[in-house]
Amino acid sequence: MLTEAQKSDYLRNGYLVIENFLSDDECRLIKGAARALVDEFAPEALHSVFSTKRQTEYVDDYFLGSGDKIRFFLEEDAVNEDGRLMLPKEQAVNKIGHGLHLANPVYKSLAEDSRIEEIMADLKLEGPELVQSMHIFKHPRTGGEVVLHQDATFLYTDPVSVVGLWMALEDATVENGCLEALAGGHTGPLRQRFVRSLGGHTHFTELDDTPWPVDQLTALPVARGSLVLLHGLLPHRSDANSSDKSRQALAFHYIDTQCHYPADNWLLRS
Ligand code: FE2
Repeated sequence: MLTEAQKSDYLRNGYLVIENFLSDDECRLIKGAARALVDEFAPEALHSVFSTKRQTEYVDDYFLGSGDKIRFFLEEDAVNEDGRLMLPKEQAVNKIGHGLHLANPVYKSLAEDSRIEEIMADLKLEGPELVQSMHIFKHPRTGGEVVLHQDATFLYTDPVSVVGLWMALEDATVENGCLEALAGGHTGPLRQRFVRSLGGHTHFTELDDTPWPVDQLTALPVARGSLVLLHGLLPHRSDANSSDKSRQALAFHYIDTQCHYPADNWLLRS
C-alpha cells in the first residue's frame, strides 16, 4: 500500500498524509453513523457524569469504562455546573469513543478494511490491534483545542508501538482546526504517561521534561477523505474551530500486540 518514498517520509517526519484514502461516499456514511448515534444520545440521563459539582468518580467511571463502548464526551463550555447542556446536543458533543469499532457496524467494517492491514504491515506492526476509535466533531465555533501531546502518553506499550490513523471526514483547514505537528519530533523521548490509579481515577506521570519547540509546529491542512498516519511519539495538537465550517474526523489507534501493554494504561483492552 505504501511506497518506499512514503515509508521514508513517515520515518523522517513521524507523520504521513495519504490523500483520497476514503471516498466521498465513505465519509458520508461515517458521518451519517455518527449523526444517528448523537440522535439516540440522551444527555439528560448523564447529568451526574457531566456535572462538575459531583465527585469526579462519575466522570472517571464513564471515561475509564468507554474502551469497548459508545460514549459521548462534551465540549467543556457546553455544560453548566449541574451537568445540563447549554447548547443543543448536536453542538455540544466533542467526540464519541472509544469502542466504535466494536459496537457499531459502520466503524467495524472500516476497521476490517484490507488497506489498513497493509499499512500496518508496511509500518512493521507484527500483531496490529485496533484498541481505540474516536469520532471527533470539532463543531463550528464550539469545537475546542486539543493540546500538544504524544499518543503514546495515552496508549503506552514497551517499546512504543502506537500508530494513529486520523481520517478527515471533512476538509480540515487552519481556520477550522486542522492537525499541527512537530515534524521529526517522534525521535525525541516520551514526556508523560496517562495512567489508571488504584482508586479508579487517572493521572499523568512525568517521564522527561525536555521542552517542545512549539514555534516549529507544521499545520497539516488536508482535504476530506485524507488519512494522516501519526507515529505514537509525534507531538501534535489542533486548534479550536474558530470558523463556521465543521471539521469532523475519525481516529483509529493501533498498537503492536508483540509489545508489552501495561495493566495501568487507562484503556483496558477487551
Ligand atoms: Fe493524538
